[in-house]
Amino acid sequence: MRIKFWIGAFAALAIIPTAANAADTMDGKTLYQTNCAKCHGATGEVSKLGKSLKPFPARNHRAIAKLISRDEMRRIITYGVKGTAMTPKKYTLDALQIEEVIDYIKTFDYTPDLANGKKRFKAVCSSCHGMDARAQTGIGAKNLVYTKLNLTEIVHTMRYGRLNTLMTSKRHQLSNPDIADVASYVNSLRYLANPANGKKLYASNCIACHATPNDIKLIGNAAESFTMADFDDRLLDLRIRHGRHVDRAGKKVEKLPSDSIQDIMAYMRANTN
Ligand code: HEC
Ligand code: HEC
Ligand code: HEC
Repeated sequence: MRIKFWIGAFAALAIIPTAANAADTMDGKTLYQTNCAKCHGATGEVSKLGKSLKPFPARNHRAIAKLISRDEMRRIITYGVKGTAMTPKKYTLDALQIEEVIDYIKTFDYTPDLANGKKRFKAVCSSCHGMDARAQTGIGAKNLVYTKLNLTEIVHTMRYGRLNTLMTSKRHQLSNPDIADVASYVNSLRYLANPANGKKLYASNCIACHATPNDIKLIGNAAESFTMADFDDRLLDLRIRHGRHVDRAGKKVEKLPSDSIQDIMAYMRANTN
C-alpha cells in the first residue's frame, strides 16, 4: 500500500511540470493542435468529429484564414458561438495565447475553386442577384459586378448578411470553402470602370448639353442640398438613365449600357469639384 502510494505520488509529480509547460506554451501550432485540431482538424480542414457536431459542424479554417479579420477570429475564439460546440476559450487560453493561435491559423493557405464558386453562385445567389450577378431582378439586390466591397468585405456580407434586408446570413447554408469560392468568383466578375473610355463617351453623349461635368446641375430640390458626390453609383445612374433626365437629355441616354455609364461616372467623379 505504502509503496504504491509513493509510486503514485512520484508519477503525479512527474506529470505536473509537463502539464504546466503545455498550458504555458506560446507556440501557436502546439496550442492549435492541443486545443482546436480535435474539431477543426490538424490542417484546418474539419475533422470527422468536427463534421458530426450538432446543431452546426465545426468550420474549415483553411478556406477563410486569410478572408476573415483578426478581430472576428479573436471575438469568436474568446467568447465562442452560443448554442454550438464552439465554447469560449478564454478560460483555457490567455489573451496572448489566443493571438498566437490566430497567427498560426493565418498561415493556412487556400486556393479558391472558381468553377465551384460559379456553380454555387447560380444555385444560391442568382435568384436575387441574377445569373450574371448584375441584379436586374428588381428586388433591391445589389449589382455585384460594380460592388465597391473588397474580397474580405464580400465574405463578411455573405457570412453575416445585412440586417433588415433580403440579404440574410449564408454562414450555415454554405461551408467555408463554398463561401471562399463564391466570394472569389464574385470578386472575379468585378467591372473596373475606365475613366479614359468614360471621357470619350462623355464627349459623344453629354458634352452637347454639359460642356464639363462641373457644369451639370442637379434637377429639382436636390440642387439645393446635394452635389453629385452625395450620390452613390446606383443613385447617380438612376438620375442619368431614368426619370426626369431622360425628358431633358433624350432617349439616347436611356439606352447607354451599364458598363458605359460606369465609365462615364468614373470620368465625371474624377472631374468635378
Ligand atoms: C469541440 C469542438 C471544437 C473545438 C475543440 C474548437 N472549436 Fe472552433 N468551432 C466549433 C464549431 C462547432 C464551430 C461552428 C460554430 C458556428 O456554427 O458558428 C466553430 C467555429 C470556430 C470559428 C469560427 C469559424 C467560422 O468560419 O465561423 C473559429 C475562428 C474557431 N472555431 C476557432 C477555434 C479555435 C482557435 C479553437 C481552439 C483554441 C477551437 N475553435 C476549438 C467547434 C470547436
Ligand atoms: C433573397 C435574395 C438574396 C439572395 C439569395 C442573396 N442576396 Fe445578396 N443581397 C440581397 C439584397 C437585397 C442585397 C442588398 C442589401 C442592402 O440593401 O444592403 C444584397 C447585397 C449583397 C452584397 C453587398 C453588395 C454591396 O455592394 O453592398 C453582397 C456582397 C451579396 N449580396 C452577395 C450575395 C451572395 C454571394 C449570395 C449567394 C451566396 C447572395 N448575396 C444571395 C439579396 C440576396
Ligand atoms: C440634350 C441635352 C442633354 C444631354 C445630351 C445630357 N443632359 Fe444631362 N441634363 C440636361 C438638363 C437640361 C439637365 C437639368 C439640369 C441642368 O440644366 O443642367 C440635366 C441634368 C443632368 C444631371 C442631374 C440629374 C438629376 O436628376 O439631378 C446629370 C447627373 C446629368 N445631366 C448627366 C448627364 C450625362 C452623364 C449625360 C451624358 C450621358 C447627359 N447628362 C446628357 C440635359 C442633357
